[in-house]
Amino acid sequence: MYSRRRFLHAAMATTAGLALVSRAGFALAGESAQALRQRAIPATGETLPVIGAGTSGSFEATPGSDKFNGLKDVLKVFFEGGATLIDTSPNYSGADAVLGQLLEEGGWREQCFLATKIAADTREAAEAQWAASQRRLRTDHVELLQVHNLRQWKIQLPYARELKEQGKTKYVGVTHYLDSGLDELEQILRTEKLDFIQIHYSVNSPNAARTVLPLAQEKGVAVLINRAFDDGRLFASVRNTPLPDWAEEAGVSSWAQMFLKFAISHPAVTTVIPATSRADRQADNLQGGIGPLLTDAQQRSLIGMFA
Ligand SMILES: NC(=O)c1ccc[n+]([C@@H]2O[C@H](COP(=O)([O-])OP(=O)(O)OC[C@H]3O[C@@H](n4cnc5c(N)ncnc54)[C@H](OP(=O)(O)O)[C@@H]3O)[C@@H](O)[C@H]2O)c1
Repeated sequence: MYSRRRFLHAAMATTAGLALVSRAGFALAGESAQALRQRAIPATGETLPVIGAGTSGSFEATPGSDKFNGLKDVLKVFFEGGATLIDTSPNYSGADAVLGQLLEEGGWREQCFLATKIAADTREAAEAQWAASQRRLRTDHVELLQVHNLRQWKIQLPYARELKEQGKTKYVGVTHYLDSGLDELEQILRTEKLDFIQIHYSVNSPNAARTVLPLAQEKGVAVLINRAFDDGRLFASVRNTPLPDWAEEAGVSSWAQMFLKFAISHPAVTTVIPATSRADRQADNLQGGIGPLLTDAQQRSLIGMFA
């Protein structure tokens, strides 16, 4: 249950975050102090804000560089805006170490719902990788441990469950990011007990809604959505395209908000995890989690536009 105290905290945090962004000179017209929408994790009832963040590409930075320093502002906007969930992986060219350093230096580890992955072929390799992940993330536990791209999941899912029993992770799950992974993911959802899945779902790649998303909902599995912007490619395709006439009534003022609202408008979706290295874009992305969801007709119209 989302308590009144937590709601007020989130609302105040949102106001502060947007004020910070406005002070920084980023145009954010007409925001109110509305809080980010929340969804419950079916396994426990714990709530998560519907907008989270990814780190692939966007958090690959050299400590001390301009990009690294800019990521501090990204996280400041993110946490002050009331968001909590950040997804990373030992496979993201050092992004997990950058995230670990920024969380420690910013004092944000406690409020972060930290998700990382196991991406290894053997049990031994997974053990070594998990030990390294704890050093790189500067923490001895995570909130979510996922088997990356279903890689050797028959070996790694039991290992993740062992780590859950040891209190090293609160939840376990599996991920994929391509339509070619949907059938296997469906089979795993039918046969294994999972807390989370992570999958792609976007206006130009909506096939997860055919089976995987309804099945996750039926089985009581939380869902993270990656690639809601098709790894940024969707922005190129709308460069000269105005938002639909109905955008304002949907509370949407940018294409980023539209793509994120599309993802969270599916009732199975818990949190969408867009990645950005820019604080102004982080503020824009958070706005996608505020206000009304898209109607079925609006969602269908977007899929038609990008088919
Ligand atoms: N198999 C897996 O487990 C798997 C696979 C894929 C992704 N993921 C996870 O999901 C996350 C998201 O996926 P993704 O990073 O592939 O792609 P994405 O979130 O669809 O797109 C990221 C791209 O969008 C740009 N962007 C972000 N916000 C924007 C905004 N408001 N306006 C304009 N451009 C914006 C970013 O550029 P800037 O940085 O320049 O803003 C970046 O190039 C990943 O970071 C990762 O954590 C997991």
